[in-house]
Amino acid sequence: MDAVPLLSLKGISKAFGAVVALEGVDFEISRPEVVALVGDNGAGKSTLIKIISGVLHADSGQIRVEGLPVRYTGPESPKLLGIETVYQDLALVNTFDTIQNIYLGREITGLGGIFLDHKRMHQEAKKHLTTLDINLPSIRKKVRYLSGGQRQAVAISRATGWGAKLIIMDEPTAALGVKESRQVLKVVKTLRASNVSVILVSHNIEHVFAITDRITVLRHGRVVASRQTHATSPEEIVRLITGASLAQ
Ligand SMILES: Nc1ncnc2c1ncn2[C@@H]1O[C@H](COP(=O)(O)OP(=O)(O)OP(=O)(O)O)[C@@H](O)[C@H]1O
Ligand SMILES: [Mg+2]
Repeated sequence: MDAVPLLSLKGISKAFGAVVALEGVDFEISRPEVVALVGDNGAGKSTLIKIISGVLHADSGQIRVEGLPVRYTGPESPKLLGIETVYQDLALVNTFDTIQNIYLGREITGLGGIFLDHKRMHQEAKKHLTTLDINLPSIRKKVRYLSGGQRQAVAISRATGWGAKLIIMDEPTAALGVKESRQVLKVVKTLRASNVSVILVSHNIEHVFAITDRITVLRHGRVVASRQTHATSPEEIVRLITGASLAQ
């Protein structure tokens, strides 16, 4: 693992009017590392993800990428630093096929940028899906006809296709069946094996224990614990999430 953390947040706070969503949050992830962000509804997980992905600005605190302080000006900034996010709603274009969705906004052009290089996009998309070990029935099918798991795979392919160092996934398995979830978890493992770090927001403790190196628990906008996965248990994590007393 690299000595300098890939991403480190210090003292991040964010309020929405009177609602304090995050308060003095410290968070770190190294390369490669898979870290789960867990916590009850409203604990601040999505808010933290949005700050890391440049969608929201923190009221205070500092973000460092590979040791250097960064100042985001919008959602494009983290992308330039190799940080990509797969959102809960996936943001796919239903009437486009897999290739078009993977290349959305980053189309490969030929002939001085006038024509899209369809052949190359097809080849590269296929190669990329093979690397991630993702099987889709047809990459020419409009994504509206794909299953939830397949759509998730397309969204992940899109996020990982650009030399990303860190992929953030907000509830990637929430709407998926057992087999589809397994596919997504496998992709996370493949990413880690290829030196890509992953922040995974999840309510599914079993999934969290299956694939993460570390688990960070948020409660009421604060980090209450960060544990190596092998050094904790589902029972302890659930206790930390709910705030139940250890003495009980
Ligand atoms: N845009 C917003 N405007 C006002 N309040 C917000 C906004 N976004 C989040 N909040 C509030 O901030 C707190 C943290 O919300 P957040 O969405 O980060 O929680 P979460 O941990 O992702 O929850 P869940 O598990 O339900 O997705 C909540 O009290 C929520 O109501
Ligand atoms: Mg959320």
